Amino acid sequence: MSLLITGGTGYIGSHTVVELQALASKQGTEQDIVIVDDLSNSSTKVLDRIKQITHKTVTFIKADICDYDAMKAVFEQHDIEAVIHFAGHKAVGESNEKPLSYYYNNVSGTVILLRVMAEQNVKKLVFSSSATVYGDNVSPLNETMPTSATNPYGQTKLMVEHILFDLAKSDSDWSIACLRYFNPIGAHNSGLIGENPNGIPNNLLPYVAQVAVGRLAQLQVFGDDYDTVDGTGVRDYIHVVDLAQGHVKALQNLDKISGCKAINLGTGNGTSVLEIVNTFKEISGQDIPYKIVPRRAGDLATVYANADLANELLDWQATRNLHTMIEDTWRWQSENPQGF
Ligand code: NAD
Ligand code: UD1
Repeated sequence: MSLLITGGTGYIGSHTVVELQALASKQGTEQDIVIVDDLSNSSTKVLDRIKQITHKTVTFIKADICDYDAMKAVFEQHDIEAVIHFAGHKAVGESNEKPLSYYYNNVSGTVILLRVMAEQNVKKLVFSSSATVYGDNVSPLNETMPTSATNPYGQTKLMVEHILFDLAKSDSDWSIACLRYFNPIGAHNSGLIGENPNGIPNNLLPYVAQVAVGRLAQLQVFGDDYDTVDGTGVRDYIHVVDLAQGHVKALQNLDKISGCKAINLGTGNGTSVLEIVNTFKEISGQDIPYKIVPRRAGDLATVYANADLANELLDWQATRNLHTMIEDTWRWQSENPQGF
């Protein structure tokens, strides 16, 4: 039996493939993995790096999840037992400019995947959702809070969550974990895989890392007048390897989940932008010039998780601290200054 990982050559997908193989090695078993990715935001070089880390080969199929025939062929040619679905576009700003591309890729693409899964009687799914679905609720955020979205990207995550809840309600054979990620950062400690954004990064950590390595001149800090520890925005940063291990745990515990469950994957701790900058500076030994600029539209002061449900349902909690997250980000960035 194989696991299908859509978006498996991407940032979180590649780390999850490594953790799935690590678990199989630890258990002395083999884990067949099929990655489907259209390479719209990743490269096949990741596959060599995964092999270097795990000494295992995965099956890679270049395909678009929106292509029904291609997805059907994947299921017909491989004995898939469960799917971890990472494939999607993820840039908030771009989603405002190209809403149709986001709705088509993230929502229609997921519906096509689900249709093929239903036809093939594969009803176990782990889905990449986001803390963005909490809208402007006050942190700590827990899974019972009302959801909303303020941009097309967030809407696509929310729409897919609604589709998954409806699907699970219609057919009790489905087991679905909707994992709501907080802010994934860091990289595998080998320095071989990590986040590799196209163009100028939108998110804080890749931006800071590229300033530290000399690719970008200066960080812009979006606002220092929030009601937080030092006036800058506070987020719940989580090590991507902890996040990846959360997917492994979700998969192991899918049988315990009847229907569709939304589950936060965060640390429960908040860190400000300036705390990130100062820690990065200390660990990298590099100067990180920054300038305070006005707030970014749509940003909240403070966002962090209540991570109790993941502990309860999945027996999972994040274990890597901020120091490790930044140390691993820096190792990846400094050893691969231009990415893959
Ligand atoms: P990523 O861009 O690195 O990985 C996504 C992968 O999906 C890429 O390799 C891309 O080529 C592929 N892809 C996109 N559309 C596809 C399609 N139609 N068919 C096949 N492959 C396709 O992003 P990531 O950071 O690894 O995020 C993975 C998932 O987690 C995404 O769904 C994202 O929205 C979600 N998420 C990410 C974050 C974050 O901060 N990174 C936070 C919350 C949720
Ligand atoms: C952003 C997205 C969110 C998405 C999340 C993870 C927006 C409005 N929100 O959230 O939907 O789920 O990424 O992918 O884009 N910051 C700076 N300078 C920068 C970049 C960021 O000061 O150059 C600050 C931000 O104001 C924020 C913090 O750093 O306070 C983190 O920002 P970011 O990494 O973009 O994540 P989120 O804002 O949480």
